[in-house]
Amino acid sequence: MLSDTSDHDELLRGAAEAAIRAPSIFNTQPWRWAVRDGVLELRADRTRQLAVTDPEGRMLTVSCGIALHHALVTLTADGYLPVVDRLPDSGDPDLLARVALAGEIPPAGARLRDAIAERHTDRRPFSDEPVPDAVVDRLRVDVEEQGVYLADLGPRSMVRFQVTAARAGELDENDPAFQTELAEWTHRPAGAGDGITPSVAVPATPRTVPLRSFYPDGGERLLPGPGHDGGARYLVLWTTGDEPADWLAAGEATSAAMLEATASGLAVSPMTDVIEVPASRALLHRVLDHLGEAQMALRVGVPAAPDDTPVSARRGAADVIEG
Ligand SMILES: Cc1cc2nc3c(=O)[nH]c(=O)nc-3n(C[C@H](O)[C@H](O)[C@H](O)COP(=O)(O)O)c2cc1C
Repeated sequence: MLSDTSDHDELLRGAAEAAIRAPSIFNTQPWRWAVRDGVLELRADRTRQLAVTDPEGRMLTVSCGIALHHALVTLTADGYLPVVDRLPDSGDPDLLARVALAGEIPPAGARLRDAIAERHTDRRPFSDEPVPDAVVDRLRVDVEEQGVYLADLGPRSMVRFQVTAARAGELDENDPAFQTELAEWTHRPAGAGDGITPSVAVPATPRTVPLRSFYPDGGERLLPGPGHDGGARYLVLWTTGDEPADWLAAGEATSAAMLEATASGLAVSPMTDVIEVPASRALLHRVLDHLGEAQMALRVGVPAAPDDTPVSARRGAADVIEG
């Protein structure tokens, strides 16, 4: 039984700790949590915003939305009902959410909570085995529950999507400011607990849709394996608006889709260069038939090889949780 605010604080702190494993753009982990008097606050950490790749803070806010959803999944798994106030103070836009506990509910179970620890970005090409339609249907329901739409790119859209991804890759490759920012986050100081190490990067390899390279200068890397993405599905999460509230919702929806896919035995990797690069974003708008604003693109598939991807680094709880 929950009795006082110190019990609440302990549960909320546990949820913030679980959310440390959330994925984020370039593994920047651009969030800060604070627990006080039965309330958990989530803030954007602007010192970790990518000035070149993400000048508006869209991907920062999406990343924070994922972390928020991870925290909420952790609470409901154990049978606690969170109440969430999103962007509660218009005078303080970096305060993204306040979470409190409203009482106890039947536990949602461990399936999605366990997927938090299991999930990671797998950049290797997936196998030719198709993703079951039933799983995509479940992901669509989960995404729509967050007020976000899911476009499952079929054969009609694939050529446009391939062109969009290739264009994003070319533009990034020829943008010295982007390359400098990328190098900063792929060459982190020892013990930083963030960024992308070459050990989780995959060298360029033939595949249906090209992926951003996190492997500019050789050395240790993840072998691509036998797949060619033949059975991969490409899902675009989109919203009708394009404000921070939409980005936060897109993050929560991304987390819902990622955790469900992981719990269903699938691998997932985000590919957001198509959204970050303005010229590609405009092309993607056409892929979506101008219905709305793309916020996240996910490659989902059946892994082609046993999963021996190393776990990516995270900062410690003391660095991200106050109180
Ligand atoms: C908003 C967002 C955008 C991302 N964009 C890409 C991307 O374009 N390409 C990629 O390979 N990974 C992308 N990622 C995955 C991150 O690099 C990854 O989550 C991070 O390095 C931590 O690793 P993990 O997911 O294995 O825990 C993205 C993740 C998020 C949340």
